[in-house]
Amino acid sequence: MRILLVCLGNICRSPTAEAALREALTDAGLADEVELASAGTGNWHVGEPPDRRMTAAAAGVGLELAGSARQIIARDLDEYDLILAMDRANLEDLREMAPDEDTRRRIRLFREFEADADGEEVPDPYYGGSAGFDRVVEIARAGARGVVEHVRAQQAQAGR
Ligand code: 4NP
Repeated sequence: MRILLVCLGNICRSPTAEAALREALTDAGLADEVELASAGTGNWHVGEPPDRRMTAAAAGVGLELAGSARQIIARDLDEYDLILAMDRANLEDLREMAPDEDTRRRIRLFREFEADADGEEVPDPYYGGSAGFDRVVEIARAGARGVVEHVRAQQAQAGR
């Protein structure tokens, strides 16, 4: 299974969600079953490492952010089983790129699988203070647990 995490810039939320999901999959013994990557709908930060403020907040709970930003391309929508948007604007942008209904079904909100989510989005922390980055880390970890449950359910359904 392949999962792509998507935000706007690919320097704050989606790299954090990717690291949190990797951690949760590892805890669940599923790290070898799922391939992860992240991308942004925008191109402003292509080639840059994750935002320094986001990296610091993630490091505070032992999550290491890696990689450099890239913009999503049409082929990603074919190649990933699940394309998870951080907020509704990302979701709409992705759905507009999708060529058909089958593809649109694989584009979902990251927090959709989170039990008792107090919101559906991972709020954009870019123009705010440090509390916003800490909040992204917290949400990413809770959301990741929900995605792991979804992966488990999918695997059970597939009889694996
Ligand atoms: P991200 O955060 O989408 O979580 O990576 C942002 C990064 C950059 C910008 C906005 C959000 N920006 O406007 O440049």
